[in-house]
Amino acid sequence: MSDAPANELKVYRDADRLAAKAAARIAQAAAESIRHRGRFTLVLAGGSTPRKTYALLARGEGEASIDWSRTFLFFGDERHVPHDDPRSNYRMAHESLLTIAPIAHDQVLPIATDLATAEQCADQYSSALVKFFGLPAGSMPIFDLILLGLGDDGHTASLFPGAAALGVSDRIATWSPPGVLPPPVDRITLTYPALNAARQVMFLVAGANKAEALRDVVDRNATARRRPAAGVRPESGRLTWLVDQSAAGLLQPSSG
Ligand code: 6PG
Repeated sequence: MSDAPANELKVYRDADRLAAKAAARIAQAAAESIRHRGRFTLVLAGGSTPRKTYALLARGEGEASIDWSRTFLFFGDERHVPHDDPRSNYRMAHESLLTIAPIAHDQVLPIATDLATAEQCADQYSSALVKFFGLPAGSMPIFDLILLGLGDDGHTASLFPGAAALGVSDRIATWSPPGVLPPPVDRITLTYPALNAARQVMFLVAGANKAEALRDVVDRNATARRRPAAGVRPESGRLTWLVDQSAAGLLQPSSG
């Protein structure tokens, strides 16, 4: 396998450079996974930061080219709103990636949001992942790469500070009431065990509004209860932070 370090933090001058490097890294992970396992299972992050990276992957120019015929896409979390709602993570991915990249519809496994409660949607997503990976009871899917973002408050996926979802360890996906940041809607999210079983987890973080949370997670060993991104510690996989200079503004020089 790759000789990249288990834990890595890279700082790029701005969000565009971050997006270009992230796209290249994702394409590299795709090539490696397809070479070793014949397919690439990629979990998409929500929010706004990944949009630029998805657009580069969709165009597939240069270092950002992926074999979409062997790639399967999943979602790390979702808002309990219809997929055509402007607040939907599926909609963001659809606009920036899925309508452009030549990936077959049945190779995209979104989190369904058409059930009455977010809890029901989470249970349905857990079952869909058990079926896709052919998992024995109680085990977690092993994704090749999970993309995550970082909220200003240190949340990631839809794991919010102090939320009950932080303590869920017997399910692949769970639900959560809204956090303090918008949008104020219920969420469906992968749990820590599902995140930490991955072969690689990659955080994409841009903007000065993330600097405090990033410093707390990277430099100050914040608790997961206070800064949930701190609870993402892949058991045997790699943890990669790709951040821009403004987000890295409060980091110790030795962090990068
Ligand atoms: C969500 C996301 C969430 C996101 C962070 C960062 O549904 O909101 O999955 O975890 O990654 O909030 O969001 P931005 O990239 O928009 O700053």
